[in-house]
Amino acid sequence: MDRIDPFGLSAAQFFQRFSGESLTFDDLHVLQPRTIDFGVDQVELGSRITRNIRINTPLVASPMEDVSEWQLAVAVALQGFPAVIHYNLSIEEQAGQVRRVKRFENGFIKEPITLSPSELISRAITIRNETGISTLPIVEGRQLAGLLTKNDYSGQKHASMRVAERMVPLDRLRHQIVRVDELPHEDPQRLEKANDLLLESHAGVLLIVTRDGAIDSLVTRTDIEKSEAFPDSIKDKTKSLVVGAAVSTNLAETRERAAELIEAGADFLCVDSSHGNSTHEQQVIEYLKGRYEQVDLIYGNVATAGGALNGVRWGADAIRVGKGVGSICSTSQVSLGTRSQITATHSCSLAVREYCDRHGIEPRIPVISDGGYGSFSAIGKGLLFADVIMLGSMLAGTDEAPGEVVYDRQGRKLKSYKGMGSFEAVRRGSGARYDVESFEDFVAEGVVGNVRSKGPVSQWVPQIKTGIRKCLQSLGYRDLASLHEAVYSSDVLLERMSEAGRREAGIHDLVEYRRTLPLD
Ligand code: XMP
Repeated sequence: MDRIDPFGLSAAQFFQRFSGESLTFDDLHVLQPRTIDFGVDQVELGSRITRNIRINTPLVASPMEDVSEWQLAVAVALQGFPAVIHYNLSIEEQAGQVRRVKRFENGFIKEPITLSPSELISRAITIRNETGISTLPIVEGRQLAGLLTKNDYSGQKHASMRVAERMVPLDRLRHQIVRVDELPHEDPQRLEKANDLLLESHAGVLLIVTRDGAIDSLVTRTDIEKSEAFPDSIKDKTKSLVVGAAVSTNLAETRERAAELIEAGADFLCVDSSHGNSTHEQQVIEYLKGRYEQVDLIYGNVATAGGALNGVRWGADAIRVGKGVGSICSTSQVSLGTRSQITATHSCSLAVREYCDRHGIEPRIPVISDGGYGSFSAIGKGLLFADVIMLGSMLAGTDEAPGEVVYDRQGRKLKSYKGMGSFEAVRRGSGARYDVESFEDFVAEGVVGNVRSKGPVSQWVPQIKTGIRKCLQSLGYRDLASLHEAVYSSDVLLERMSEAGRREAGIHDLVEYRRTLPLD
Protein backbone atom coordinates (compact mmCIF):
# COMPACT_ATOMS: atom_id res chain seq x y z
CA MET A 1 0.00 0.00 0.00
CA ASP A 2 1.23 3.55 -0.75
CA ARG A 3 2.00 5.57 2.31
CA ILE A 4 -0.80 7.92 3.24
CA ASP A 5 1.66 10.73 3.99
CA PRO A 6 5.33 11.34 3.10
CA PHE A 7 6.37 12.62 6.55
CA GLY A 8 4.97 10.15 9.11
CA LEU A 9 7.25 7.32 10.25
CA SER A 10 6.46 3.62 10.60
CA ALA A 11 6.74 2.24 14.15
CA ALA A 12 10.11 0.70 13.25
CA GLN A 13 11.48 4.00 11.88
CA PHE A 14 9.93 6.04 14.67
CA PHE A 15 11.40 4.08 17.56
CA GLN A 16 14.72 3.86 15.73
CA ARG A 17 14.69 7.63 15.32
CA PHE A 18 13.84 8.15 19.01
CA SER A 19 16.00 5.35 20.34
CA GLY A 20 17.47 6.51 23.62
CA GLU A 21 14.29 8.43 24.47
CA SER A 22 11.52 7.11 26.68
CA LEU A 23 8.21 8.16 25.17
CA THR A 24 4.65 7.91 26.35
CA PHE A 25 1.08 8.49 25.26
CA ASP A 26 1.18 12.27 24.89
CA ASP A 27 4.35 12.06 22.81
CA LEU A 28 2.52 10.37 20.01
CA HIS A 29 0.25 11.23 17.12
CA VAL A 30 -1.04 8.24 15.15
CA LEU A 31 -1.91 9.08 11.54
CA GLN A 32 -4.97 7.65 9.85
CA PRO A 33 -3.53 5.13 7.37
CA ARG A 34 -6.59 4.33 5.24
CA THR A 35 -10.12 5.23 4.32
CA ILE A 36 -12.70 4.30 6.94
CA ASP A 37 -15.46 2.22 5.42
CA PHE A 38 -17.35 0.84 8.42
CA GLY A 39 -19.06 2.00 11.60
CA VAL A 40 -17.78 2.09 15.18
CA ASP A 41 -20.00 -0.78 16.29
CA GLN A 42 -18.51 -3.04 13.65
CA VAL A 43 -15.17 -3.07 15.48
CA GLU A 44 -14.44 -6.42 17.13
CA LEU A 45 -12.68 -6.24 20.51
CA GLY A 46 -11.64 -9.89 20.99
CA SER A 47 -8.12 -10.60 22.24
CA ARG A 48 -6.17 -13.04 24.41
CA ILE A 49 -5.20 -12.36 28.00
CA THR A 50 -2.85 -15.37 28.06
CA ARG A 51 -1.70 -17.94 25.54
CA ASN A 52 -4.83 -20.07 26.00
CA ILE A 53 -7.51 -17.71 27.28
CA ARG A 54 -9.57 -15.61 24.91
CA ILE A 55 -11.39 -12.53 26.14
CA ASN A 56 -13.95 -10.30 24.46
CA THR A 57 -12.61 -6.90 25.56
CA PRO A 58 -8.84 -6.21 25.53
CA LEU A 59 -8.63 -5.13 29.17
CA VAL A 60 -7.84 -6.63 32.55
CA ALA A 61 -8.43 -5.26 36.05
CA SER A 62 -5.26 -4.89 38.09
CA PRO A 63 -4.56 -7.06 41.16
CA MET A 64 -4.90 -4.19 43.61
CA GLU A 65 -6.67 -3.90 46.94
CA ASP A 66 -8.89 -1.06 45.77
CA VAL A 67 -9.69 -2.58 42.39
CA SER A 68 -10.04 -6.34 42.09
CA GLU A 69 -12.24 -8.21 44.50
CA TRP A 70 -15.11 -10.49 43.60
CA GLN A 71 -17.80 -7.84 42.98
CA LEU A 72 -15.68 -6.04 40.40
CA ALA A 73 -14.43 -9.36 38.99
CA VAL A 74 -18.01 -10.44 38.29
CA ALA A 75 -18.99 -7.07 36.83
CA VAL A 76 -16.05 -6.87 34.42
CA ALA A 77 -16.26 -10.54 33.38
CA LEU A 78 -19.84 -9.80 32.30
CA GLN A 79 -18.38 -6.97 30.19
CA GLY A 80 -15.86 -9.28 28.52
CA PHE A 81 -12.62 -9.07 30.50
CA PRO A 82 -11.20 -10.59 33.66
CA ALA A 83 -10.00 -9.16 36.95
CA VAL A 84 -7.05 -10.54 38.87
CA ILE A 85 -8.00 -10.95 42.54
CA HIS A 86 -5.23 -9.29 44.62
CA TYR A 87 -3.30 -11.13 47.32
CA ASN A 88 -3.54 -8.71 50.24
CA LEU A 89 -5.91 -11.30 51.64
CA SER A 90 -5.41 -14.52 53.57
CA ILE A 91 -5.19 -17.59 51.33
CA GLU A 92 -8.72 -18.63 52.38
CA GLU A 93 -10.13 -15.17 51.71
CA GLN A 94 -8.54 -14.90 48.29
CA ALA A 95 -9.66 -18.42 47.30
CA GLY A 96 -13.14 -17.56 48.66
CA GLN A 97 -13.25 -14.52 46.38
CA VAL A 98 -12.33 -16.66 43.38
CA ARG A 99 -15.09 -19.14 44.32
CA ARG A 100 -17.69 -16.39 44.49
CA VAL A 101 -16.84 -15.32 40.96
CA LYS A 102 -16.86 -18.88 39.66
CA ARG A 103 -20.21 -19.58 41.31
CA PHE A 104 -21.79 -16.36 40.07
CA GLU A 105 -23.01 -17.50 36.73
CA ASN A 106 -22.84 -21.12 35.93
CA GLY A 107 -24.25 -23.23 33.19
CA PHE A 108 -24.59 -26.35 35.28
CA ILE A 109 -24.05 -25.64 38.94
CA LYS A 110 -22.10 -28.73 39.89
CA GLU A 111 -21.87 -29.66 43.53
CA PRO A 112 -24.50 -27.13 44.59
CA ILE A 113 -24.67 -26.15 48.24
CA THR A 114 -27.29 -28.36 49.92
CA LEU A 115 -29.05 -28.52 53.29
CA SER A 116 -30.74 -31.39 55.11
CA PRO A 117 -34.42 -31.20 56.19
CA SER A 118 -33.43 -31.15 59.87
CA GLU A 119 -31.29 -27.99 59.61
CA LEU A 120 -32.63 -24.59 60.61
CA ILE A 121 -33.80 -21.93 58.17
CA SER A 122 -31.25 -19.61 59.82
CA ARG A 123 -28.53 -21.70 58.11
CA ALA A 124 -30.07 -20.92 54.70
CA ILE A 125 -30.09 -17.22 55.64
CA THR A 126 -26.39 -17.35 56.58
CA ILE A 127 -25.50 -19.05 53.28
CA ARG A 128 -27.46 -16.42 51.40
CA ASN A 129 -25.70 -13.57 53.23
CA GLU A 130 -22.25 -15.06 52.80
CA THR A 131 -22.42 -16.33 49.23
CA GLY A 132 -25.47 -14.70 47.66
CA ILE A 133 -26.81 -18.21 46.90
CA SER A 134 -30.47 -18.67 47.75
CA THR A 135 -31.50 -21.77 45.79
CA LEU A 136 -30.71 -24.81 47.94
CA PRO A 137 -31.53 -28.42 47.07
CA ILE A 138 -32.49 -30.32 50.22
CA VAL A 139 -30.99 -33.79 50.56
CA GLU A 140 -31.37 -36.76 52.88
CA GLY A 141 -28.06 -38.54 52.68
CA ARG A 142 -27.43 -38.10 48.95
CA GLN A 143 -31.08 -38.35 47.90
CA LEU A 144 -32.88 -35.24 46.72
CA ALA A 145 -35.72 -34.56 49.18
CA GLY A 146 -36.90 -31.06 48.29
CA LEU A 147 -35.96 -27.51 47.40
CA LEU A 148 -35.65 -24.33 49.43
CA THR A 149 -35.49 -20.94 47.71
CA LYS A 150 -35.78 -17.41 49.06
CA ASN A 151 -39.50 -17.47 48.25
CA ASP A 152 -40.03 -20.23 50.80
CA TYR A 153 -39.19 -18.38 53.99
CA SER A 154 -39.05 -15.00 55.66
CA GLY A 155 -35.88 -14.17 57.55
CA GLN A 156 -37.88 -12.58 60.34
CA LYS A 157 -40.65 -15.15 60.71
CA HIS A 158 -39.05 -18.50 59.95
CA ALA A 159 -35.39 -18.35 61.02
CA SER A 160 -35.80 -20.80 63.88
CA MET A 161 -37.95 -23.31 61.97
CA ARG A 162 -36.62 -26.53 60.43
CA VAL A 163 -35.97 -26.65 56.69
CA ALA A 164 -38.44 -29.58 56.44
CA GLU A 165 -41.28 -27.26 57.45
CA ARG A 166 -40.65 -24.69 54.71
CA MET A 167 -39.10 -26.61 51.79
CA VAL A 168 -41.04 -27.60 48.70
CA PRO A 169 -41.15 -31.42 48.94
CA LEU A 170 -40.08 -33.76 46.17
CA ASP A 171 -43.59 -34.68 44.97
CA ARG A 172 -44.31 -31.02 44.12
CA LEU A 173 -41.08 -30.68 42.14
CA ARG A 174 -41.64 -33.37 39.50
CA HIS A 175 -42.05 -30.84 36.65
CA GLN A 176 -38.61 -29.35 37.36
CA ILE A 177 -36.54 -32.52 37.77
CA VAL A 178 -34.69 -34.29 34.97
CA ARG A 179 -32.39 -37.32 35.05
CA VAL A 180 -28.79 -36.90 33.88
CA ASP A 181 -29.21 -39.62 31.25
CA GLU A 182 -32.19 -37.81 29.71
CA LEU A 183 -29.89 -34.98 28.61
CA PRO A 184 -27.46 -35.10 25.66
CA HIS A 185 -23.90 -36.15 26.59
CA GLU A 186 -21.99 -33.25 25.11
CA ASP A 187 -21.97 -29.51 25.74
CA PRO A 188 -23.25 -27.12 24.45
CA GLN A 189 -26.23 -29.33 23.45
CA ARG A 190 -26.56 -30.57 27.05
CA LEU A 191 -26.87 -27.07 28.46
CA GLU A 192 -29.18 -25.93 25.67
CA LYS A 193 -31.54 -28.84 26.36
CA ALA A 194 -31.48 -28.20 30.12
CA ASN A 195 -32.17 -24.49 29.56
CA ASP A 196 -35.08 -25.36 27.22
CA LEU A 197 -36.63 -27.69 29.79
CA LEU A 198 -36.28 -25.00 32.44
CA LEU A 199 -37.84 -22.29 30.31
CA GLU A 200 -40.79 -24.60 29.55
CA SER A 201 -41.26 -25.55 33.21
CA HIS A 202 -42.40 -22.18 34.65
CA ALA A 203 -39.93 -22.90 37.48
CA GLY A 204 -36.91 -20.88 38.58
CA VAL A 205 -34.55 -23.85 38.72
CA LEU A 206 -34.12 -27.22 36.99
CA LEU A 207 -32.82 -30.00 39.26
CA ILE A 208 -30.70 -32.65 37.56
CA VAL A 209 -30.53 -35.99 39.38
CA THR A 210 -28.68 -39.27 38.91
CA ARG A 211 -30.53 -42.54 38.14
CA ASP A 212 -30.76 -43.29 41.85
CA GLY A 213 -32.19 -39.88 42.74
CA ALA A 214 -29.09 -38.11 44.07
CA ILE A 215 -28.65 -34.44 43.17
CA ASP A 216 -26.14 -34.04 40.34
CA SER A 217 -26.37 -30.38 39.35
CA LEU A 218 -28.82 -27.59 38.61
CA VAL A 219 -29.46 -24.76 36.17
CA THR A 220 -31.24 -21.57 37.12
CA ARG A 221 -33.43 -19.11 35.26
CA THR A 222 -31.46 -16.17 36.70
CA ASP A 223 -28.33 -17.54 35.01
CA ILE A 224 -30.09 -17.76 31.66
CA GLU A 225 -31.28 -14.16 32.06
CA LYS A 226 -27.81 -12.98 33.05
CA SER A 227 -26.20 -14.52 30.00
CA GLU A 228 -28.83 -13.00 27.70
CA ALA A 229 -28.19 -9.55 29.18
CA PHE A 230 -24.39 -9.78 28.82
CA PRO A 231 -23.50 -11.21 25.43
CA ASP A 232 -19.81 -10.25 25.84
CA SER A 233 -19.32 -12.09 29.12
CA ILE A 234 -16.30 -14.38 29.31
CA LYS A 235 -16.81 -17.92 30.52
CA ASP A 236 -14.77 -21.08 30.98
CA LYS A 237 -15.72 -24.51 29.60
CA THR A 238 -18.23 -25.07 32.38
CA LYS A 239 -19.83 -21.66 31.70
CA SER A 240 -18.50 -20.02 34.88
CA LEU A 241 -17.10 -16.50 34.60
CA VAL A 242 -13.35 -16.22 33.99
CA VAL A 243 -11.21 -14.82 36.80
CA GLY A 244 -7.50 -14.67 37.60
CA ALA A 245 -5.66 -14.44 40.90
CA ALA A 246 -2.34 -12.95 41.95
CA VAL A 247 0.45 -14.77 43.75
CA SER A 248 3.76 -13.40 44.99
CA THR A 249 7.35 -14.29 44.09
CA ASN A 250 7.80 -15.83 47.53
CA LEU A 251 7.91 -19.49 46.54
CA ALA A 252 7.17 -20.95 49.98
CA GLU A 253 3.96 -18.95 50.32
CA THR A 254 2.99 -19.27 46.67
CA ARG A 255 3.10 -23.09 46.78
CA GLU A 256 0.25 -23.13 49.26
CA ARG A 257 -1.64 -20.13 47.86
CA ALA A 258 -1.53 -21.32 44.25
CA ALA A 259 -2.82 -24.78 45.22
CA GLU A 260 -5.86 -23.21 46.94
CA LEU A 261 -6.52 -20.73 44.14
CA ILE A 262 -6.40 -23.42 41.49
CA GLU A 263 -8.66 -25.64 43.59
CA ALA A 264 -11.07 -22.69 43.87
CA GLY A 265 -11.17 -22.47 40.08
CA ALA A 266 -8.84 -19.58 39.19
CA ASP A 267 -8.46 -19.61 35.39
CA PHE A 268 -4.98 -18.11 35.43
CA LEU A 269 -2.42 -16.85 37.93
CA CYS A 270 -0.50 -13.61 37.81
CA VAL A 271 2.93 -13.67 39.42
CA ASP A 272 2.78 -10.17 40.80
CA SER A 273 6.05 -8.32 41.18
CA SER A 274 6.81 -4.67 40.57
CA HIS A 275 10.39 -5.60 39.67
CA GLY A 276 10.00 -8.72 37.53
CA ASN A 277 12.76 -10.56 35.70
CA SER A 278 14.28 -11.85 38.95
CA THR A 279 15.51 -15.29 39.93
CA HIS A 280 12.72 -15.41 42.54
CA GLU A 281 10.16 -14.94 39.81
CA GLN A 282 11.89 -17.50 37.59
CA GLN A 283 11.67 -20.07 40.41
CA VAL A 284 7.98 -19.39 40.94
CA ILE A 285 7.17 -19.57 37.22
CA GLU A 286 9.13 -22.79 36.77
CA TYR A 287 7.61 -24.35 39.89
CA LEU A 288 4.05 -23.46 38.86
CA LYS A 289 4.54 -24.57 35.27
CA GLY A 290 6.05 -27.87 36.42
CA ARG A 291 3.22 -28.50 38.86
CA TYR A 292 0.17 -27.07 37.07
CA GLU A 293 0.92 -27.24 33.39
CA GLN A 294 -2.72 -26.49 32.53
CA VAL A 295 -2.82 -23.14 34.38
CA ASP A 296 -1.72 -20.09 32.40
CA LEU A 297 0.69 -17.67 34.07
CA ILE A 298 1.22 -13.94 33.69
CA TYR A 299 4.79 -12.80 34.27
CA GLY A 300 6.16 -9.32 35.01
CA ASN A 301 6.45 -6.50 35.49
CA VAL A 302 9.14 -5.73 32.98
CA ALA A 303 9.94 -2.81 30.72
CA THR A 304 12.73 -4.11 28.48
CA ALA A 305 12.88 -6.54 25.57
CA GLY A 306 15.32 -8.78 27.47
CA GLY A 307 13.11 -8.84 30.56
CA ALA A 308 10.10 -9.78 28.45
CA LEU A 309 11.96 -12.56 26.64
CA ASN A 310 13.11 -14.12 29.90
CA GLY A 311 9.44 -14.54 30.81
CA VAL A 312 8.79 -16.30 27.51
CA ARG A 313 11.82 -18.57 27.97
CA TRP A 314 10.85 -19.47 31.54
CA GLY A 315 7.44 -20.60 30.34
CA ALA A 316 5.11 -17.64 30.99
CA ASP A 317 1.83 -17.41 29.05
CA ALA A 318 1.60 -13.61 29.04
CA ILE A 319 4.04 -10.77 29.67
CA ARG A 320 3.04 -7.79 31.82
CA VAL A 321 4.80 -4.55 30.94
CA GLY A 322 4.96 -1.38 33.02
CA LYS A 323 7.48 -0.03 35.50
CA GLY A 324 7.07 3.18 37.39
CA VAL A 325 4.13 4.42 35.34
CA GLY A 326 0.97 3.75 37.38
CA SER A 327 -1.11 6.70 38.56
CA ILE A 328 -0.42 5.92 42.26
CA CYS A 329 3.16 4.92 41.71
CA SER A 330 6.21 6.57 43.20
CA THR A 331 8.69 3.92 42.05
CA SER A 332 10.32 6.34 39.59
CA GLN A 333 11.14 8.64 42.51
CA VAL A 334 12.73 6.02 44.73
CA SER A 335 14.22 3.42 42.41
CA LEU A 336 15.48 2.77 38.88
CA GLY A 337 14.61 0.37 36.08
CA THR A 338 11.54 2.39 35.06
CA ARG A 339 10.59 3.38 31.51
CA SER A 340 7.87 5.44 29.85
CA GLN A 341 4.96 3.25 28.92
CA ILE A 342 4.72 3.54 25.14
CA THR A 343 8.43 2.90 24.58
CA ALA A 344 8.35 -0.02 27.05
CA THR A 345 5.22 -1.52 25.50
CA HIS A 346 6.55 -1.21 21.96
CA SER A 347 9.94 -2.67 22.80
CA CYS A 348 8.58 -5.65 24.76
CA SER A 349 5.79 -6.39 22.27
CA LEU A 350 8.13 -6.29 19.29
CA ALA A 351 10.64 -8.59 21.01
CA VAL A 352 7.97 -11.11 22.03
CA ARG A 353 6.37 -11.03 18.59
CA GLU A 354 9.65 -11.63 16.78
CA TYR A 355 10.67 -14.36 19.23
CA CYS A 356 7.36 -16.20 18.83
CA ASP A 357 7.54 -15.96 15.05
CA ARG A 358 11.15 -17.21 15.02
CA HIS A 359 10.34 -20.16 17.26
CA GLY A 360 6.99 -21.02 15.72
CA ILE A 361 5.09 -20.23 18.94
CA GLU A 362 1.46 -20.04 17.86
CA PRO A 363 -0.61 -18.31 19.09
CA ARG A 364 1.92 -15.67 20.11
CA ILE A 365 2.36 -14.92 23.82
CA PRO A 366 0.20 -11.88 24.61
CA VAL A 367 1.65 -8.69 26.03
CA ILE A 368 -0.30 -6.81 28.71
CA SER A 369 0.54 -3.13 29.02
CA ASP A 370 0.00 -2.19 32.65
CA GLY A 371 -0.31 1.24 34.21
CA GLY A 372 -0.55 4.88 33.26
CA TYR A 373 -3.80 4.61 31.29
CA GLY A 374 -6.08 7.54 32.01
CA SER A 375 -7.88 8.17 28.73
CA PHE A 376 -9.45 6.25 25.87
CA SER A 377 -6.83 7.49 23.41
CA ALA A 378 -4.04 6.29 25.74
CA ILE A 379 -5.64 2.83 25.67
CA GLY A 380 -5.82 3.05 21.87
CA LYS A 381 -2.13 3.95 21.68
CA GLY A 382 -1.17 1.09 24.01
CA LEU A 383 -3.16 -1.32 21.84
CA LEU A 384 -1.09 -0.39 18.79
CA PHE A 385 1.46 -2.81 20.28
CA ALA A 386 -0.07 -4.64 23.26
CA ASP A 387 -2.83 -7.27 23.25
CA VAL A 388 -4.42 -6.17 26.50
CA ILE A 389 -4.37 -3.06 28.72
CA MET A 390 -4.33 -3.45 32.50
CA LEU A 391 -6.33 -0.81 34.36
CA GLY A 392 -6.12 0.37 37.95
CA SER A 393 -7.28 3.97 38.38
CA MET A 394 -9.81 3.80 35.54
CA LEU A 395 -11.70 1.05 37.41
CA ALA A 396 -11.03 2.07 41.03
CA GLY A 397 -13.82 4.66 40.86
CA THR A 398 -16.55 2.19 39.93
CA ASP A 399 -19.25 1.23 42.43
CA GLU A 400 -18.07 -2.38 42.42
CA ALA A 401 -14.45 -1.54 43.34
CA PRO A 402 -13.75 -2.10 47.03
CA GLY A 403 -12.34 1.38 47.85
CA GLU A 404 -14.12 3.63 50.35
CA VAL A 405 -16.52 6.33 49.17
CA VAL A 406 -15.49 9.87 50.18
CA TYR A 407 -16.66 13.33 49.12
CA ASP A 408 -14.46 16.32 48.25
CA ARG A 409 -15.11 19.91 49.27
CA GLN A 410 -17.35 20.55 46.28
CA GLY A 411 -19.42 17.53 47.29
CA ARG A 412 -18.18 15.37 44.41
CA LYS A 413 -18.21 11.65 45.06
CA LEU A 414 -14.75 10.03 45.11
CA LYS A 415 -13.38 6.59 45.89
CA SER A 416 -10.15 5.84 47.69
CA TYR A 417 -7.37 4.28 45.61
CA LYS A 418 -3.96 3.36 46.93
CA GLY A 419 -0.79 1.96 45.43
CA MET A 420 0.13 -1.60 46.40
CA GLY A 421 3.56 -0.23 47.31
CA SER A 422 2.12 2.38 49.68
CA PHE A 423 2.76 1.91 53.39
CA GLU A 424 -0.93 1.18 53.99
CA ALA A 425 -1.07 -1.63 51.41
CA VAL A 426 2.33 -3.13 52.20
CA ARG A 427 1.38 -3.38 55.87
CA ARG A 428 -1.56 -5.53 54.78
CA GLY A 429 0.44 -8.01 52.73
CA SER A 430 1.72 -6.66 49.42
CA GLY A 431 5.32 -6.32 50.70
CA ALA A 432 6.41 -9.31 48.61
CA ARG A 433 5.54 -7.35 45.46
CA TYR A 434 8.11 -4.71 46.46
CA ASP A 435 10.68 -6.93 48.20
CA VAL A 436 9.90 -5.38 51.58
CA GLU A 437 11.47 -7.34 54.40
CA SER A 438 11.29 -4.91 57.29
CA PHE A 439 9.39 -1.75 58.15
CA GLU A 440 12.36 -0.11 59.83
CA ASP A 441 13.91 0.95 56.53
CA PHE A 442 10.73 0.80 54.46
CA VAL A 443 10.62 2.99 51.36
CA ALA A 444 7.12 3.41 49.88
CA GLU A 445 6.71 2.91 46.13
CA GLY A 446 3.14 4.13 46.02
CA VAL A 447 0.77 6.72 47.42
CA VAL A 448 -2.76 6.80 48.82
CA GLY A 449 -5.28 8.92 46.94
CA ASN A 450 -8.79 9.21 45.57
CA VAL A 451 -10.32 9.00 42.11
CA ARG A 452 -13.60 10.38 40.77
CA SER A 453 -16.56 8.05 41.15
CA LYS A 454 -17.46 6.40 37.83
CA GLY A 455 -20.78 4.78 38.78
CA PRO A 456 -21.50 1.14 38.07
CA VAL A 457 -19.23 -0.94 35.80
CA SER A 458 -22.26 -1.64 33.60
CA GLN A 459 -22.40 2.07 32.68
CA TRP A 460 -18.74 3.04 32.71
CA VAL A 461 -17.10 0.08 30.94
CA PRO A 462 -19.36 0.28 27.85
CA GLN A 463 -18.03 3.86 27.42
CA ILE A 464 -14.46 2.56 27.58
CA LYS A 465 -15.34 -0.11 25.04
CA THR A 466 -16.82 2.48 22.68
CA GLY A 467 -13.67 4.55 23.22
CA ILE A 468 -11.48 1.61 22.14
CA ARG A 469 -13.72 0.90 19.15
CA LYS A 470 -13.45 4.53 18.08
CA CYS A 471 -9.64 4.35 18.29
CA LEU A 472 -9.53 1.32 16.00
CA GLN A 473 -12.17 2.66 13.64
CA SER A 474 -10.42 6.04 13.35
CA LEU A 475 -7.43 4.15 11.89
CA GLY A 476 -9.61 2.00 9.65
CA TYR A 477 -9.11 -1.38 11.40
CA ARG A 478 -11.92 -3.69 12.46
CA ASP A 479 -9.98 -5.74 14.99
CA LEU A 480 -6.73 -5.90 16.92
CA ALA A 481 -5.14 -8.57 14.75
CA SER A 482 -5.42 -6.40 11.63
CA LEU A 483 -4.26 -3.31 13.54
CA HIS A 484 -1.15 -5.17 14.74
CA GLU A 485 -0.44 -6.51 11.26
CA ALA A 486 -0.65 -2.95 9.93
CA VAL A 487 1.57 -1.52 12.69
CA TYR A 488 4.30 -4.10 12.09
CA SER A 489 4.06 -3.98 8.31
CA SER A 490 4.58 -0.21 8.44
CA ASP A 491 1.11 0.90 7.30
CA VAL A 492 0.44 2.81 10.50
CA LEU A 493 2.49 6.01 10.73
CA LEU A 494 3.55 7.85 13.85
CA GLU A 495 4.73 11.34 14.62
CA ARG A 496 6.21 12.89 17.74
CA MET A 497 3.91 15.46 19.34
CA SER A 498 5.56 18.73 20.27
CA GLU A 499 4.87 20.67 23.45
CA ALA A 500 2.82 23.13 21.35
CA GLY A 501 1.04 20.18 19.70
CA ARG A 502 0.11 18.84 23.14
CA ARG A 503 -1.44 22.19 24.07
CA GLU A 504 -3.33 22.19 20.80
CA ALA A 505 -4.55 18.63 21.41
CA GLY A 506 -6.01 19.65 24.76
CA ILE A 507 -9.07 21.88 25.19
CA HIS A 508 -7.93 25.47 24.59
CA ASP A 509 -9.03 29.04 23.99
CA LEU A 510 -12.24 28.71 26.02
CA VAL A 511 -13.09 30.91 28.97
CA GLU A 512 -14.53 27.91 30.75
CA TYR A 513 -15.82 24.49 29.86
CA ARG A 514 -17.54 21.45 31.29
CA ARG A 515 -17.14 17.81 30.39
CA THR A 516 -20.07 15.52 29.94
CA LEU A 517 -18.01 12.36 30.50
CA PRO A 518 -16.58 11.28 33.84
CA LEU A 519 -13.08 11.53 32.36
CA ASP A 520 -11.13 14.35 33.90
P1 XMP B 1 -2.99 2.86 36.91
O1 XMP B 1 -2.27 3.95 36.22
O2 XMP B 1 -3.94 2.13 36.04
O3 XMP B 1 -1.84 1.82 37.30
O4 XMP B 1 -3.63 3.31 38.19
C1 XMP B 1 -2.08 0.58 37.89
C2 XMP B 1 -0.80 -0.20 37.97
O5 XMP B 1 0.17 0.44 38.80
C3 XMP B 1 1.01 -0.54 39.39
N1 XMP B 1 1.02 -0.30 40.82
C4 XMP B 1 2.01 0.31 41.45
N2 XMP B 1 3.20 0.70 40.99
N3 XMP B 1 3.73 1.48 43.15
C5 XMP B 1 4.08 1.24 41.87
O6 XMP B 1 5.20 1.52 41.50
C6 XMP B 1 2.53 1.11 43.68
O7 XMP B 1 2.26 1.33 44.85
C7 XMP B 1 1.65 0.47 42.78
N4 XMP B 1 0.43 -0.07 42.96
C8 XMP B 1 0.07 -0.53 41.72
C9 XMP B 1 0.45 -1.90 39.04
O8 XMP B 1 1.25 -2.43 38.03
C10 XMP B 1 -0.96 -1.56 38.60
O9 XMP B 1 -1.51 -2.50 37.72
